[in-house]
Amino acid sequence: MAESKNGFSSSFGAIMAAAGSAIGLGNIWRFPYICGKYGGGAALVLYLVFVFLIGMTLLLSELVIGRRTGHTPMKAFEALQPKRRAWRYVGLIGIITCFLILSIYLVISGWTLNYFWESVSGTLASVADGDFAAHFAAFAASPVAPIVCLVVFAALTLVVILGGVQNGIEKVSKVLMPVLLVLVLLLCVRSLTLPGASKGLAYLFHPDFSKLSWEGVLAILGQALFSLSVGMGVMIVYGSYIPKSDNLFKSAMWITVCDTAIALLAGVAIFPAVFAFGQSPDGGPGLVFNVLPVVFNSMGNVGSIVFGGAFFLLLAVAALTSAISLLEAVTAWGAEYLHKRNVSAALITVLSCVVAVLAAYAYEGGVLGGVKLGGMSLFDWLNKLTGDYLPPICALLTILFFGWVVKKDVVRDELSNGGTLPTRWFEFFYLVLARWLAPIALIVALVAGI
Ligand code: PHE
Repeated sequence: MAESKNGFSSSFGAIMAAAGSAIGLGNIWRFPYICGKYGGGAALVLYLVFVFLIGMTLLLSELVIGRRTGHTPMKAFEALQPKRRAWRYVGLIGIITCFLILSIYLVISGWTLNYFWESVSGTLASVADGDFAAHFAAFAASPVAPIVCLVVFAALTLVVILGGVQNGIEKVSKVLMPVLLVLVLLLCVRSLTLPGASKGLAYLFHPDFSKLSWEGVLAILGQALFSLSVGMGVMIVYGSYIPKSDNLFKSAMWITVCDTAIALLAGVAIFPAVFAFGQSPDGGPGLVFNVLPVVFNSMGNVGSIVFGGAFFLLLAVAALTSAISLLEAVTAWGAEYLHKRNVSAALITVLSCVVAVLAAYAYEGGVLGGVKLGGMSLFDWLNKLTGDYLPPICALLTILFFGWVVKKDVVRDELSNGGTLPTRWFEFFYLVLARWLAPIALIVALVAGI
């Protein structure tokens, strides 16, 4: 237990770990696609407004709740409002959400590991252009390979968590985040120097307000929240590890800037290449496993190995630091009851692998692919619950708690480090953003979603 209490050693380490959580599969396979689909520059401007005004407000509120109390979500809510204990269930919803996201993340991360291996070993280079969709479908539906991959990925995640907060999460993030930046820059340079790259840039950035539909607005808001890993308590747990002397506002700003920068760079790395080789833009697994391998193969054998390998390594690294934060959140919560961090981590990894295996088998064409509830497989349900419903509900309850239940003086005290930091922006943040704008935006999104 004691080790989970020794938090991050420096503000740089804390920012790298939290940025590692924020930068995930969503930045790479969802953000660029959403931008292109809903009007390029128009969508981008809206994303920036959402991520800095609403996403960052939620991020900051979670960091404050975590650092103020030094607890994991359930106990943190309770510590701030001991009289109305029901609020702690918001924390519980968050932890359940983390567990479910972790399970589905393990499946997809496993796929990226496999594709990394198939890139560098030259397997993908020998697949014909028209066969990639079938290649992926056969892999995802096979009973053994995806399971082995997800278990390997889970084991990697567990090893980092067993290393502890400082020697595991912080150290690994400080190495992997710069690696991720180098990989994405390498891919950007390759993509931008291809003939015809400008079409991809136009798709991403040229503003077209006619494509910005209401559906697009909601998708962009959802992406802004998911991308910052808010709405499930991860940032409450990481907040509890942030040194008391850190300026939380600055940390939140850095995390948001890093997350947004990588999302933009991912777009620049992907779409110019997609267009240069005459492929059509896509998002999600379709983009990553069906479209991009064709693009890498068009770069020749060496290109396919180097750039395909770099890309799938980028995905795996981004996924790993996100999975670490998810496993850490659930582990720290479990450790408050089990009093043994390592036991908690191992137990949760095993449970999450069980759900992940079921989800993997429930994917299209898998052994359990035919088992449906309400027309959707377990994989689709997990995707829907963790994508569309649980995080916005949890985020809404969290921000209502933060803006209306926690005392204003407590928030001011925490954000100003006991009155030692200037807080000129505080009233705007607290009264306008946290009390009104963020909750209203979330309510609108939830109602429209239903
Ligand atoms: N922010 C991650 C992404 O963009 C997803 C994530 C959500 C990771 C919640 C951890 C916790 O992919």
